[in-house]
Amino acid sequence: MKKTYEIAVIPGDGTGPEVVAEGLKTLETAAAKYNFACHICTYDIGGEHYLTTGETISDQQLDSLAQKDAIFLGAIGHPDVKPGILEKGILLKTRFALDQYINLRPVKLYEGVYTPIKDKLSEHVDFVVVRENTEGLYAGAGGCLKRGTADEVAIQESINTRKGVERCIRYAFEYCQTRNSARKITLCGKTNVLTYAFDLWERTFYEVAEEYPDIEANYAHVDALCMWMVKNPEWFDVIVTDNMFGDIITDLGAMIQGGMGIAAGANINPAGVSMFEPIGGSAPKYTGQQKINPIAAILAVQLMLDTIGEKKAATSVEAGVAKVLREDIKDVAAGKMGHSTSEIGDLVVDYIENSD
Ligand code: IPM
Ligand code: MN
Repeated sequence: MKKTYEIAVIPGDGTGPEVVAEGLKTLETAAAKYNFACHICTYDIGGEHYLTTGETISDQQLDSLAQKDAIFLGAIGHPDVKPGILEKGILLKTRFALDQYINLRPVKLYEGVYTPIKDKLSEHVDFVVVRENTEGLYAGAGGCLKRGTADEVAIQESINTRKGVERCIRYAFEYCQTRNSARKITLCGKTNVLTYAFDLWERTFYEVAEEYPDIEANYAHVDALCMWMVKNPEWFDVIVTDNMFGDIITDLGAMIQGGMGIAAGANINPAGVSMFEPIGGSAPKYTGQQKINPIAAILAVQLMLDTIGEKKAATSVEAGVAKVLREDIKDVAAGKMGHSTSEIGDLVVDYIENSD
């Protein structure tokens, strides 16, 4: 009997549906070739759905997502919905409810892709950011007083628990051990200013590091790390950090590896249901035009396959992406690819079907 995975799909808004279509095409091709099956269940969640029903994501939908083997998400964001509603009501709610406490974001320069740090080669840019995904400034702690008056006060607090910090750091060490032979991990923080939060992070980091003597553990302040990500990306293998810094440095990482069109991420609950997504937004102005690059969504499928244990299929998808980036695509930016969205998907699919 073939193994069958129950996959939830949330195409979402804007260009989400068109890049998700290419990701699913890749997934089905990999499944046929590597002898497993995927049962797809599509969810109507996003800005459009919110505007017609007033609903972001229901408890029933969350319960249903929790039963799946994995979730594939396109993009959430709608120009007619006030900022914050969909982000908090859908994305963060799902990450928190399913306890996807790791946000894993690879930063890798594939051959043939233009990067603003153009003298760096593919071998110099290949690291992963492990971002804590359920705490920090994202926990929503704080409040405001006298809103809208001259005496207004706003407080937004960063919540860091020993348990939350430790499980994230442990995941990063475990991941570092299996990734490659570099065995290097960097804690990204701000111990010189955020002396409570990052004191907890730093102590926990070095305590856990003692259990992994074969991994070189070091620390960098977030501002200096941004500089080094651009100047010396080859220094990094695994970077572990809190939610807010992780959000910021992975947008920088996406640019270093060539752009949002090829940057993917995984929201991981190692013991539960994980969610995989291209990390860019819904790009409303390109909706339906077949101009957006589906590689980010296809690499999200690769992360999904790797996480659920279909390692051969994951390797084949990545090799297909690498080939298309090296040989077929003119530019990774939307509208400049020299191909339509679905043509790029077809090129990856062809590679998977015809490689051995
Ligand atoms: C991301 C996004 C989200 C975040 C937003 C949309 C809430 O920027 O996935 O990085 O800040 O986590
Ligand atoms: Mn972000």
